[in-house]
Amino acid sequence: MRPLIIAANWKMNTTPADAGELAATIAARTEEPTVTRVICPPYVCLAAVRDALVGKNVGVGAQNVHHELAGAYTGEVSASQLNGLATWVILGHSERRRDQFESDALIGKKLARAISSGLRPILCVGELLDERESGRAVEVVATQLRGALAGNDVDALIGGGFVIAYEPVWAIGTGRTASAADAAAMAEAIRAALAADLGWGKAADAVPVLYGGSVTSANIAEFLAEHSIDGGLVGGASLKPDEMAGMVASAAVVAKARAAAEGKPA
Ligand code: PGA
Repeated sequence: MRPLIIAANWKMNTTPADAGELAATIAARTEEPTVTRVICPPYVCLAAVRDALVGKNVGVGAQNVHHELAGAYTGEVSASQLNGLATWVILGHSERRRDQFESDALIGKKLARAISSGLRPILCVGELLDERESGRAVEVVATQLRGALAGNDVDALIGGGFVIAYEPVWAIGTGRTASAADAAAMAEAIRAALAADLGWGKAADAVPVLYGGSVTSANIAEFLAEHSIDGGLVGGASLKPDEMAGMVASAAVVAKARAAAEGKPA
C-alpha cells in the first residue's frame, strides 16, 4: 500500500524568525499517524523548522539541491550541506524549470545525488496550458520522466522512497485546478510510462503520485477520491494552519478507507 503524503512547499515565504512557530502550529494541528506530513521551507528556515519539529513526526524538506557535493557553485546548496537539516527534497519544480532553466537531464543528476545522499525526492512534472490544450500533456510528462530518470537506478529510487508530484503548470498558484479525473488519468499515465517506457514493470505501482496545483482543504478530497493519487504537494494553502489541518484530515479519512479496503489496519 502506498503512503498518503501531504507535502507543504513554502516556496520563498517565511523567515528564520517566524518559520519555526508556523511549522510547530501546523504539526500540532495535523497529528494524523496515517498521513505522511512534510514541510519544505526555504533553505534559510530549515534549521528553525527542524528544531520546531523535533519529535513531531513531520518530515523536513529542501526545495532544491545541487548535483555536486561541494565546489565553486556560488549561491548553491549541496546534499552534504543539507545533512541534518532535511530528509526530503523537491526536485524539478516548474518554477525552477522556468526561472533557473533546469533541464530534465540536470534534474536527473540532482535525483541521483538526492538518492545517494539519503534525501527522499519529490520529482515534479507537469505540462504547460498550451501543451494540455493541444492534447500533448501525457507525452510532455513522459518526456520529462524519461529525461530525469534515464540512468537512475530503479531499485535505488524505490528504496529511497521516490515520489512524483504531477503539477500542471497552469494550475500552480492560479486558483485553477486540473479536474480530479484528468489528474487521476495522468497519475495512471505516469505509472504506465514508468512500467513500460522505463522498464520498471511492477515497481511502478509502488511510486506515490501526488497532485499539485491550487490544492486546498476545499478541493483535496476530490483528488484523494481517485485511487491513483496519493496526496498533495501544496503551495499557497500550506502556509495556513487551518488549510493544512483540513487537508491532512481529508487525507487521514482516505488513508483509513484504503487500509480497510485492503483489509489492513490503518
Ligand atoms: P500552489 O502551488 O498550491 O500554490 O498552486 C503548488 C506548488 O507549486 O507546488
